[in-house]
Amino acid sequence: MKTKCYLVLLATLLSLPYLGQAQKTDKPAHTLGIIPLPAEIISHNGFYALPQNIKISAKTADEINVATFMGEWLGQYGKKVSISPSKNADIILSSAGGSLKKEAYELDVTAKKITITASGGPGLFYGLQTLMQLVPATGDKANVRIPLVTVKDQPAFAWRGSMLDVSRHFFPVSFIKKYIDFIAAYKLNTFHWHLTDDQGWRIEIKKYPKLTSVSAFRKETLIGAQQQMKKPDDFKYDGTPYGGFYTQEEIKDVVAYAQKRYVTIVPEIEMPGHSLAVLAAYPELACKPGTYEAATKWGIFEDIVCPTEQTFEFFENVLTEIAALFPGEYIHIGGDEAPKTVWKASPAVQKIMADNNITDVEKVQGWFNARIEKFIQSKGKKLIGWDEILEGGITPASTVMSWRGEKGGIEAARHGNNVVMAPSPFMYLDYGQNPQVHHPAEPVMIGGYLPLEKVYGYNPLPKELDPTLHKHILGVQANLWTEYITTPQKVEYALFPRLLALSEIAWSAPNRKDFKDFEGRVAHQFHHLDKKNIHYRVPEPTRTETTQTEQGKATFMLASIVPGAEIRYTLDGHIPDQTTHLYSTSFTVPRNRNIKVRAVTIAPNGRHSVPVEFEVP
Ligand code: ACM
Repeated sequence: MKTKCYLVLLATLLSLPYLGQAQKTDKPAHTLGIIPLPAEIISHNGFYALPQNIKISAKTADEINVATFMGEWLGQYGKKVSISPSKNADIILSSAGGSLKKEAYELDVTAKKITITASGGPGLFYGLQTLMQLVPATGDKANVRIPLVTVKDQPAFAWRGSMLDVSRHFFPVSFIKKYIDFIAAYKLNTFHWHLTDDQGWRIEIKKYPKLTSVSAFRKETLIGAQQQMKKPDDFKYDGTPYGGFYTQEEIKDVVAYAQKRYVTIVPEIEMPGHSLAVLAAYPELACKPGTYEAATKWGIFEDIVCPTEQTFEFFENVLTEIAALFPGEYIHIGGDEAPKTVWKASPAVQKIMADNNITDVEKVQGWFNARIEKFIQSKGKKLIGWDEILEGGITPASTVMSWRGEKGGIEAARHGNNVVMAPSPFMYLDYGQNPQVHHPAEPVMIGGYLPLEKVYGYNPLPKELDPTLHKHILGVQANLWTEYITTPQKVEYALFPRLLALSEIAWSAPNRKDFKDFEGRVAHQFHHLDKKNIHYRVPEPTRTETTQTEQGKATFMLASIVPGAEIRYTLDGHIPDQTTHLYSTSFTVPRNRNIKVRAVTIAPNGRHSVPVEFEVP
């Protein structure tokens, strides 16, 4: 009886017209589909219908910057937008929220207006990203309605990064800008640009023109997946010269583009390892004389620069230009995978060891880094490097990027160093997305299996680390190495939807994780990705249930997280396509060895998932 009364009361309350402020119904956040999940979101009944002529209030440079993005977005809906300092507006951008942390924001959508408050540009920008996600990508363009919400949000981590390797494969400026758009839309704030490696040097350095005329090109590239090649005969090359680089003018353009989106670029200049392309142009930096060429296959190479005065002079000159080009705090010096074979055999290195009382050749890298670090600091910057920099000994000011699992990060934090967690396998988006490694229908990948759920499950705060040391974990980053990621489309395939999981573990508090809820919101994001023509990986159907209906038969129930997708299947071993059985609610098959249940998702954009085969129980 009591229960019934409450229900009637609740129904009455919900149907009341607005009494001033809309009622708080606290709809589950997934109904709004926002990624990353905001710290606090209250959803109210009703919508704000955007007028045809929209006045945006913006006065400071940051407010005007964000208002300009907002204007471009609203322009897509045919709206006329005017920006002025007047507070008599439909949308108010205010960076006067001085009590809010640097990247925090509050977004209030009422039936009359929209307000975004922050303490500066980043928060306003993130408020806009949330607002944009609130408008269904598939909705009626002429009648844009925004659900009424109050959002109070701030990031869990300050470093929310994504790395792109442009050495193994080169991506043009137009795509680098897209990449920055991808990460900014999901509230990531750091673009780690891996600019140099054995297979090509990708940035113009005025002092060393051969870095772009020689080091930026390799004579050809290995065909196929190197890790599957067992004997010399398996190694076949395409015979086609490959390369490219960014001019300093292009770099400045990209930096400005990123700044407008509150993305900091961390340039990486690898030293002393992964430096074959440097030696191709400047062999005098090697420990042994010889001719070198940019690598044409993948892996770790023993030919690395020698830690001599000439090499210091080279990197100091390079870093001088790098420091002037990139306004961010950090310069990444790589430092990973530097075998000491040539150093061990080098009289020059032996002399360095004797002169500096170094008995272990591995420590020469620490000595080298310490000198480079001083130089980087003299330019007003901070050094960051892969976790190998720990082995040679590091100064308290260095920041460590933990990639060989979490071990390096934990050790560094215990030393009191700052850390960015970017561990393999969780944060290695070059890993495959199919449980069958090297599945014939997947693009060639480096191997491994890193599904969405595994990325989502990663917690940047390692369990083993004492909570008092969590302050050293600056944040988290995913890495996209491009040995096999040859085109922009393939980058998109590797990034999406896994980048959404990265976004959420970087932004949302770890204790609010819920994969099922997240998956529901990912479903909503597919529309946004389609609207931007992003070539995401269409997830294969999953089996929700198999029941044995009667002796000798099995019933299958399948599902796809892609909204509006078709599932097509076959039972005869053929690859399903749009001509094969259309799945509706379930199907039953004989339990027979000849039956093979194969299914694909066909997304509304027409793209197919990789086929999946389900075992008949
Ligand atoms: C790395 O993956 N070699 C940092």
